[in-house]
Amino acid sequence: MKALRSKIVPFFIATFAVALFLTTCESAVKIDDAEKEIARKVDSVLSLMTLEEKVGQLMQYSGFGEFTGPVSADHNYMEPLKEGKIGSMLNANGAEYTRKLQQIAVEETRLGIPLIFGYDVIHGYRTIFPIPLAETASWDLDLIETSAHVAATEAAAAGQHWTFAPMVDIARDPRWGRIMEGAGEDPYLGSLVAAARVKGFQGDDLAAPNTIAACAKHFAAYGATMAGKDYNTVDISNRTLHEIYLPPFKAAVDAGVETFMSAFNEINGIPATANRYILNDLLKEEWQFKGFIVSDWSSIRELIPHGIAANDYEAGNLGMNAGVDMDMMGMIYDPQLFQLLEDGKVTQLQVDDAVRRILRVKFKLGLFDDPYRYCDEEREKEVIMSEEHLEISRDAARKSIVLLKNENNLLPLDPQKINTIALVGPMGDTRFDLIGEWSARGNPEEAISLLEGLTRSLEGKAKILHAKGCEISGEDKSGFSEAIRAASAADVVVAAVGESRMMSGEALCRSDIGLPGVQKEFLMELQKTGKPIVVVLMNGRPLGIPWVKGNVPAILETWFLGTQAGPAIADVLLGMYNPSGKLPVTFPVSVGQVPIFYSYKNTGRPPVPGIRWNSKYLDIPVEPLFPFGYGLSYTTFEYSEITLSDTILLPGSELTAEVTVKNTGVRDGEEIIQLYIRDLVGSVTRPVLELKGFRKENIPAGESVTVRFTLTEEDLKFYDINMDFTAEPGTFELFIGPNSAELKKATFAFME
Ligand code: BGC
Repeated sequence: MKALRSKIVPFFIATFAVALFLTTCESAVKIDDAEKEIARKVDSVLSLMTLEEKVGQLMQYSGFGEFTGPVSADHNYMEPLKEGKIGSMLNANGAEYTRKLQQIAVEETRLGIPLIFGYDVIHGYRTIFPIPLAETASWDLDLIETSAHVAATEAAAAGQHWTFAPMVDIARDPRWGRIMEGAGEDPYLGSLVAAARVKGFQGDDLAAPNTIAACAKHFAAYGATMAGKDYNTVDISNRTLHEIYLPPFKAAVDAGVETFMSAFNEINGIPATANRYILNDLLKEEWQFKGFIVSDWSSIRELIPHGIAANDYEAGNLGMNAGVDMDMMGMIYDPQLFQLLEDGKVTQLQVDDAVRRILRVKFKLGLFDDPYRYCDEEREKEVIMSEEHLEISRDAARKSIVLLKNENNLLPLDPQKINTIALVGPMGDTRFDLIGEWSARGNPEEAISLLEGLTRSLEGKAKILHAKGCEISGEDKSGFSEAIRAASAADVVVAAVGESRMMSGEALCRSDIGLPGVQKEFLMELQKTGKPIVVVLMNGRPLGIPWVKGNVPAILETWFLGTQAGPAIADVLLGMYNPSGKLPVTFPVSVGQVPIFYSYKNTGRPPVPGIRWNSKYLDIPVEPLFPFGYGLSYTTFEYSEITLSDTILLPGSELTAEVTVKNTGVRDGEEIIQLYIRDLVGSVTRPVLELKGFRKENIPAGESVTVRFTLTEEDLKFYDINMDFTAEPGTFELFIGPNSAELKKATFAFME
């Protein structure tokens, strides 16, 4: 029997492999044929175009809906649009408005080439989802893909073809306001999230009316901005660039992303928008990226203040020669490309290649078949803020919440045992802040506040006393007394504190990452009432709040959760949902620790408490406030020791690592089980930990789940001393656990 099985199994595997190979080949052939057909059509359009029309395709103008960057007083798109001198518009919104503009492009210009409309649909279009950093805390790739798909469905119905998302910049500095837009500090998690978002936006068929083209931004290393200050200099090693900042971009390419955006920042002396190595040699040539690259807002023009171009002409020369295909609001390519072509600085081939790339995406979107297919007033009414979308947003919101502390199981609150809840703090009744920055057409009036969410859930069960206490910023303490009265009269206090939405996002950086204004003092006063306090945090970045951690029994990190924030937080506070989120970014004790991240290097003098000559601070600990991957549940999980299939991993083979996780509490719960490795000795120094896998498992109370991870040589690779991406033989530690600081350990060797 055993022998028979062992023959059948390889036969089955072989047959399956052949079938898979044939299907893969078939679909590769189909894709190839489709690409050839599009290339043929692109060429036929290109052959009809004048040079003016070609340059026009490379120009992107902002509509008048909103401006997301500086604009000149005489900004006007109407004239150039009518003359066929615009290929794309951004910030033009709604089916009606986009239809009007498209009509001009299609019916009033000589060739009638449709416009491609782009917009920052970052975490929802009108139904707003948690900010991307928050959503990453769910570690739920299906959810992330679904929320991007919902955003695409709504945006597409409102006339958008293209989102400037996902933002895949790794960010390790909480001062940087744009940390809210990305997936946090880790390249492995960041790459998976990047791919999920690209798939969610683009789906399988870009021409479908509920998909839009995605844009991987900001290429590259924008998150490494010095001192956490936006647009600032980036000076990092080539190894760090390749190992930490580039992988999510590569993952986006592999997931089929159609466009890229060049970043504002310089990288080691060369601004990204003028960086031929990054844009052309790496992205277009080595990675074989077939889509087009748009500059960031005016970033070609900004080559002048960067001090790398003396004037518009030189800026255009650098941008085109680096590989930027479309000029967003720089107003440089038109007119500079004409002179640059005449002077032989730029070739016709280069311009044609840029036009081809843009037309290709327009064809893939189906715009040449029906330029109006995305501006559909009926569909717009039907899908935007639909019941289904709101439900998905609420689910995403619940899954993004991270329980940071829960002393004596203060949470969940039990309405059977509680008569009165005091909801205090400046975030308790805010709608404006809940939807966070980059919230597209999100309307704060449509968001549900925590007060409303709690009131709905507690109707007829418990009383809520609401008092604001203080503002987010400022020194005013006059509201303290009312809030303290409310707290004193309640059984439990929910203190909703945090940052305003305008404190994180583009050009919204902070040097102090604590609670702004008098909020900490407010919490200190509340504590004097002796009532149990639950702090509900709302913020767009990791906060340094050691006093809160040390003094308040329960802390819930709720970020900015979007339209359904209130009901989602109420679900968690009242135990209708058991929190499962885990931090995608390290929370520092204070700004003095920044940059701080879990995958640091050991150094020659790792910190040893009580010993002087090593790597530490005099006044703060070296450990973070909350480590990467951290998050609690209303239940508890116990991890078994790790079982490895072998102690040796050979090239071409696999090593499995198994762990059993038991839910030792009385509630069902989801756990995010994380796997890390450490390469003990390398030709260059290696991080103390690197995330290499995770699973999210629903484990019923009292039950256990055995999780198996598979590692191959691929997982051990890094850029070695020669910058070759390779796995080096030697001893590795393998860790599995609930976060990056509480891990079980096993050891294996990789041998060549
Ligand atoms: C931002 C981009 C954004 C663009 C268009 C720029 O200021 O850096 O992320 O996509 O504006 O709104």
